[in-house]
Amino acid sequence: METRLILFGPPGVGKGTQAKLLAEHFGIPHFSTGDILRAAVAAGTELGKKARTIMDAGKLVPDDIMINLVREALASSRAAKGFILDGFPRTLEQAKALSVIFRDLKILRFHVVNFEVDDEEIIRRLDNRLICPKEGKIFNLEFDSLEKGGQCPSCGVPLVQREDDKPETVRERLRIYHATTKVVVDFYKQQGVVMTVDGTGTVDVVNREIRMML
Ligand code: AP5
Ligand code: MG
Repeated sequence: METRLILFGPPGVGKGTQAKLLAEHFGIPHFSTGDILRAAVAAGTELGKKARTIMDAGKLVPDDIMINLVREALASSRAAKGFILDGFPRTLEQAKALSVIFRDLKILRFHVVNFEVDDEEIIRRLDNRLICPKEGKIFNLEFDSLEKGGQCPSCGVPLVQREDDKPETVRERLRIYHATTKVVVDFYKQQGVVMTVDGTGTVDVVNREIRMML
């Protein structure tokens, strides 16, 4: 059976971390809209030029750009046997557009995994997050026994902090989440497809909980 998951929740809740584990477990692709945008910024494409200042300020990239990007990803042959969508939808407009995309692609079954962690823990996690700019791997200074300025244990390139993980930008991302994104979960609750996960356990505990619920 195809697995189609939407990972939903505030910045830093662990969507990317769990998406990578679940994608490996189920053998399906992981589409992170944030990763796609960061790759475009790094490559200096038109999309990247448009997105850069918006992302660095912690704001949302316009809906039409995001909807087209996701439509293209989900219509690709890679997504035919299932997928994990991480970071989309985050407005009601995007959620409604995704329903149209699913209808067009004849997708009837999907789940929304709704992660919950309080804002204080999120600020701590993002303050301690490092990423590998080459492979997109996600680390944390608190439990990955790394140091600031350290190297990726798998490919050796220097790890970096994301531009939008500065404390004032994290606060703005959280503000936007509470003001604009959080309501999207109600749209899905009305469809009876939401599974809520307590994101405060360890990475392994959260992963086991999601797999059990599925
Ligand atoms: P995006 O990249 O999607 O960022 P986000 O939603 O803010 O989420 P993050 O990637 O920051 O966090 P995460 O939940 O993936 O957590 P992670 O696993 O890394 O978007 C970035 C920007 O792109 C947006 O601000 C916007 O500008 C734009 N954008 C993207 N999509 C858009 C859309 N649809 N519409 C408009 N604009 C869009 O974990 C965080 C840290 O916690 C790590 O250090 C990790 O090691 C650690 N951690 C993970 N799990 C645990 C655990 N269980 N316990 C302790 N620590 C943990
Ligand atoms: Mg992420």
